[in-house]
Amino acid sequence: MDDAIIDIRGVGKHFAQRRDSRKVVLEDINLQVHAGEFVSLVGASGCGKTTLLRMIGGLVPYEPGAVRVNGELVDSVPRRIGFVFQDAALLPWRTIEENVAIGLNEYRKSFSKQEARDRVAAQVELVGLTEFASYLPRQVSGGMQQRAGLARALVGEPDVLLMDEPFGALDAFTRMRLQEELAEIVRRTSATTVFVTHDVDEAVFLSDRIAVMSIGPGTIREVVDVDLPRPRLQRQELLGNRRASELRDRVLELVIGDRTVPPAVEAAGVRP
Ligand SMILES: Nc1ncnc2c1ncn2[C@@H]1O[C@H](COP(=O)(O)OP(=O)(O)OP(=O)(O)O)[C@@H](O)[C@H]1O
Ligand SMILES: [Mg+2]
Repeated sequence: MDDAIIDIRGVGKHFAQRRDSRKVVLEDINLQVHAGEFVSLVGASGCGKTTLLRMIGGLVPYEPGAVRVNGELVDSVPRRIGFVFQDAALLPWRTIEENVAIGLNEYRKSFSKQEARDRVAAQVELVGLTEFASYLPRQVSGGMQQRAGLARALVGEPDVLLMDEPFGALDAFTRMRLQEELAEIVRRTSATTVFVTHDVDEAVFLSDRIAVMSIGPGTIREVVDVDLPRPRLQRQELLGNRRASELRDRVLELVIGDRTVPPAVEAAGVRP
């Protein structure tokens, strides 16, 4: 479709292995994500979710195919993208607030110092860290560090938010709380989001669509529409919800049904 914010067409990715072979990691990926949409990527470990996300973020090159963000071909880090990593990836010697401010670097010229400070403070508040703004990362919990990573990604008000298992390392309760917070933040900011997770319930709760990937080489097997009403503000709303369980079962079936085979290794056909 033409109005896609993220438009991935016929994209592949291989890594050179030895001189005359290559590992095909992604093959013929097609996915369009529209303005304000929340799409999750799920699939077996090694199917290429992180690689695909990093391609959208301009962090790894691809061939063949085309990835466009806001109509522009991605060939380096595109503007106005927020990236949230699995570990919060904060600078340990900077305070929470200073770490969040790093997310504004790209936009530095557009704000006065005071405006930048106000924005950072507002973002820190949005993720509930005001009280901890002057703490160092090691002085706050893992959940708070993830919140800081989220704030850093959001502070520039990106059009596109890319998240790679942001809650993977957290305990179940913190995780659920952050899922609810993320649902609320995404609703407020209406960023177009691609979210990688292994947690199918998390994907059902947060997503408009779930792209289930298969391995060997990685491709999108099926895109499941999450036709549950919004707003979805609390995880418990989905407990005992029949449609939610059906969707979860469908996604699980697709993931489990995907027999895990190692990614294809094939001759590159090109000799140095
Ligand atoms: N720089 C690289 N060089 C060679 N192979 C790589 C490189 N980066 C990733 N791969 C391979 O690409 C495949 C996909 O990796 P990727 O990290 O994208 O998977 P994933 O779906 O994110 O897995 P997980 O769920 O475990 O995070 C794996 O087989 C991995 O070994
Ligand atoms: Mg990964």
